[in-house]
Amino acid sequence: MEMKIGFIQMEPKLLDLNTNLSKAEKFLKEAAKKETKLVVLPELFDTGYNFYSKEELEEIAQQVPDGETTQFLIEQAREHEMFIIAGTAEKDEKGRIYNSAVIVGPIGWGYIGKYRKIHLFYREKLFFEPGNLGFHVFNIGIARVGVMICFDWFFPEAMRTLALKGADIIAHPANLVMPYAPKAMPIRSLENRVFSITANRIGEERGLRFIGMSQINSPKAEILLRASEDKEEVGIVEIGLEEARNKKINEFNDIFKDRRPEHYML
Ligand code: ACM
Repeated sequence: MEMKIGFIQMEPKLLDLNTNLSKAEKFLKEAAKKETKLVVLPELFDTGYNFYSKEELEEIAQQVPDGETTQFLIEQAREHEMFIIAGTAEKDEKGRIYNSAVIVGPIGWGYIGKYRKIHLFYREKLFFEPGNLGFHVFNIGIARVGVMICFDWFFPEAMRTLALKGADIIAHPANLVMPYAPKAMPIRSLENRVFSITANRIGEERGLRFIGMSQINSPKAEILLRASEDKEEVGIVEIGLEEARNKKINEFNDIFKDRRPEHYML
């Protein structure tokens, strides 16, 4: 089945929820005009990234799904008849904060679920609780979507787990600062035979520079699309999911059936 999938590469404004939602709204409209069915926004697209204190973050983090960010995304998905995966700062009912991603869909779907980042990067450890919901694949009818956030890519187990759980597409909201992920993600996609969408941010925040280069990769390690390092962009590609569902690479080898976990370290 052919479908259009995409990323929104944008520059969130630190601690400015309204500006960030308005900016996302503009780009989601652009993606919808091109009939995109599944769109990924960056990690923490609603809050920015480089917090100085937990207090700053506490003021802006939202509940999921009742807070402003998720409600905004539900409304956008309904209006544009698309599925959206977006990174957001989540505050739970006890005030604990997670670096999360939510997935929402059109009428009949609404709020579908969330993922809480498992591998926290650098100073994130000062502000966020480590994720406690595991890696999950969301079956949204048109595809099975596995979600992981930014630094999770560094741990091959993350994407492997999602692929073994049946993902066709890995949605990867990101705020990348190191240069490696654009090189590594095509190989992660190849070794798991899945599509991947990395939606990164651009710009500089309090001295920290983000690398852009959002990309969509195929199960054959092709970089189907790569964004610039420094411009806001909507990137869209048409894919056929069958490519991700066939794990055979020749008549003798099926990369999942050929696994020999008894020889692997856990
Ligand atoms: C990252 O995990 N935001 C690098």
